[in-house]
This record gives sequence, structure tokens and C-alpha cells, in this order.
Amino acid sequence: MKQEINTMNYFHVTLPAESPCDYPIVVGADFHEILSHLPEGRVFTKCVIITDDTLKTLYGNTLLTHLQHAGQDAILFSVPAGEHSKNVATYQHLIQGLVEAGCERGCVILALGGGVVGDLAGFLAGTYLRGVPYVQMPTSLLAMVDSSVGGKTGINIPQGKNLIGMVHQPLLVLTDVALLKTLPPEHLINGLIEAIKVFLIADYDSLLFVEAELEGILSGDTRLLQDVVARALAIKIGVVSRDEKERGERALLNFGHTVGHALEKVSDYTVLHGIAVGYGILVEARIAQILGVLTVEHLQAIDAIMARLGLHGHFLQQYDISEVIAATKNDKKVRSGCVQYVILQSLGKALIENNRYVHPVSDTVVQQAYSECVGA
Ligand SMILES: NC(=O)c1ccc[n+]([C@@H]2O[C@H](COP(=O)([O-])OP(=O)(O)OC[C@H]3O[C@@H](n4cnc5c(N)ncnc54)[C@H](O)[C@@H]3O)[C@@H](O)[C@H]2O)c1
Repeated sequence: MKQEINTMNYFHVTLPAESPCDYPIVVGADFHEILSHLPEGRVFTKCVIITDDTLKTLYGNTLLTHLQHAGQDAILFSVPAGEHSKNVATYQHLIQGLVEAGCERGCVILALGGGVVGDLAGFLAGTYLRGVPYVQMPTSLLAMVDSSVGGKTGINIPQGKNLIGMVHQPLLVLTDVALLKTLPPEHLINGLIEAIKVFLIADYDSLLFVEAELEGILSGDTRLLQDVVARALAIKIGVVSRDEKERGERALLNFGHTVGHALEKVSDYTVLHGIAVGYGILVEARIAQILGVLTVEHLQAIDAIMARLGLHGHFLQQYDISEVIAATKNDKKVRSGCVQYVILQSLGKALIENNRYVHPVSDTVVQQAYSECVGA
């Protein structure tokens, strides 16, 4: 699945027959070399870059010029940076922009940004004229290791996050890890936690690699970051290829997310997604230990790596535990009122029993795990 050629990593996502789809992912550390992978043979009537205001200045204008010099009819739309741009009004504004610019079915959308731009532009591409192709060009570590791959797109409404959305797979994913040099440090940690989550459920060797190289990764070493991205993608691509629509195995990627999503909600989304997932991992790993599935030693190893990222359980004491538990009930994995969790079996392995990837856990156990986290 993964071939290493010089300094680039090449992957391929192949989805099963129910939604036949194939797309390449290129990971490198040179913007211009990465751009050489844009689909050249294919003629697009227009290239539409969607980005945010911060990234427009940093990289968007360069991309626009590059495309125009290459003879493409290219335009750029930017939205304010941040989660609040993933809304219906911004979506409608962009649709209007596409219509006014005369974009036809032959256009392509380039999503240059973090997960917000990726989700918004992907949804725009999936719905405009009943679907046009799009290229993911992730710029945040979270988008590189997670949101740019798998085709989940969507926007938020006041009732909740990602409540409007669809699965629309990209034509191509172009990932340039050198762009991470301008990413604020808390966003580097935010994305790294999503990579660690993947390693916790499926790749012990990569977890050891992150533990050993953590300081270099956090200092922004491009070679190490490329390694983290390539390792996390190899796992995610395998899972998505086997279970695109989350009917089974893909649910494992939600480790830490049941409590993480609840924390995002009770904090009114002031805690970044990946950081909230990090705290969710602390609580959910404790659930596994309380249930007698995960050893204390493995739990301590998880606590230790999260502590090195600045995440300590006592942070959770500011939230009302009953509110957090109530918020977990909104989770997509609730069945007959019972919340289902991914249960970690050991470092690098999630519990899979009788083909079940998520398991019902009582509120009492969740409450105990949360309290133990606060006191740890
Ligand atoms: N589709 C999926 O599968 C999936 C998975 C996980 C998360 N998400 C979504 O992703 C979103 C979060 O993504 P995010 O954390 O990337 O947030 P984001 O897109 O808001 O980016 C974070 C901030 O970093 C800035 N930024 C991004 N790249 C930069 C760079 N290279 N240099 C300087 N600044 C940069 C952005 O302008 C923004 O201010 C959420 O909306 C979440 O729901 C989607």
C-alpha cells in the first residue's frame, strides 16, 4: 500500500465495489514538488481554491499564481479562519460565488486548509451541481493525519457539529508537511493526538516511535513530521478502505471521541478537537482498565505520553461530570440509549469481540473513570 520514492510517500486509497473509488495521496515536504502532482492531463474548466484568510496570505496566493502561470483558469475564495466558518451561511455564500463565477461541472475545487476548510469545501464540492471533484490540500497536522482522508465532509448547525454532511471522496490528496512550520504549536499537539490515537488502536511500533521522537516532532522537524503523517495515514487508509461507511472497523477511529466530543460540547467548543480527544483518551483508557481489559502499566504509559503533551487529568475537574455524561448520549454510537465505547486492549490494539468494535459501557463506569482521571 505504501511505497517510498525519494523523499515523498505515495499511498493509494481503494474503496470497495459499493462506492468504487480510487485516489492517490502524496506526502512530501516541498510545495512546488507537491503541486507538480496536480492532475495535469485532465482539463478543468476552472480551478477554485477554497481557503481561510490566514492560509490565503501564507500559501493561497502562491497557489493561485502557480495555477494561473500553468495556464489554468483559477480563482480563490477565502473564509474567516476557525470553526465558525463551517456554517450554512458561509456554505451558501460560497455556492453563490461559484454560480457567479460561472463554475460548471468541469470545475475542480482545491481545499487548501485545515479540517474546517476541508470539511466545508468537501461538502461544497459534494453538493454543488450534485457533485464536482475536489482535491484535499491539508495544511494542519490534524487535517493531514485525519480529516483529509476518508471523504467525510460537512458543516455545523446551531443544534450540533457536522449535523449536515455527506461522504464525498476527493480526487486526490496533496500533503506538504513543510507547511506545518507556520502552524501554531497548540495545533501541532492537536493533530499529533489524532495520530497517537491511531497508533494506540492499531500500531504499537509507531507509538514507540512517537514516544522516542516526541521532542523533535514538537519542535517541528519536517522529516519526523512526515514520518508521523505517513505512519498514521497507512493505518487510516487501511481502515477506510475496508469500511468506508463505518459499519464496523472504522468505528475504532472513534477511540477517545465519545468523551472527547462530549468535552467539546460542554466546553462550548473552546477546547480544540484533538485536545478534547486527548482527554477523551485518558478517560476511555481508564474505562478499559476498570473493565479489566487494559493493564495498569499500559494505562500509565498513556497518561505519561499525554502528560508530555501538557494534558493532565485534573484539567477535567472544571466540567460537571453529569453534564459530560449527558453529552455522551448524543453520540452517534448510542444504541437503545446505551453509549458504546472503543475499548483499548493493549498499546496498539483495540478490543474486537464477536466482530464487535464498540462495546456498551454503563454510566457508573464512565463516572468512575472520569473521577479517577481528575484525581490522577
Ligand atoms: N472530515 C473528517 O474526517 C474530520 C476528522 C476530524 C476533524 N474534522 C474537522 O476538522 C476541523 C478541525 O480541523 P483543524 O484542527 O485543522 O482546524 P482549522 O481548520 O480551524 O485549523 C486550525 C487553525 O490553524 C490555522 N492553520 C491551519 N494550517 C496552518 C498552517 N500551515 N500555518 C498556519 N496556520 C494554519 C487555521 O487558519 C486555523 O486558524 C473540525 O471542524 C472537525 O470537525 C473532520
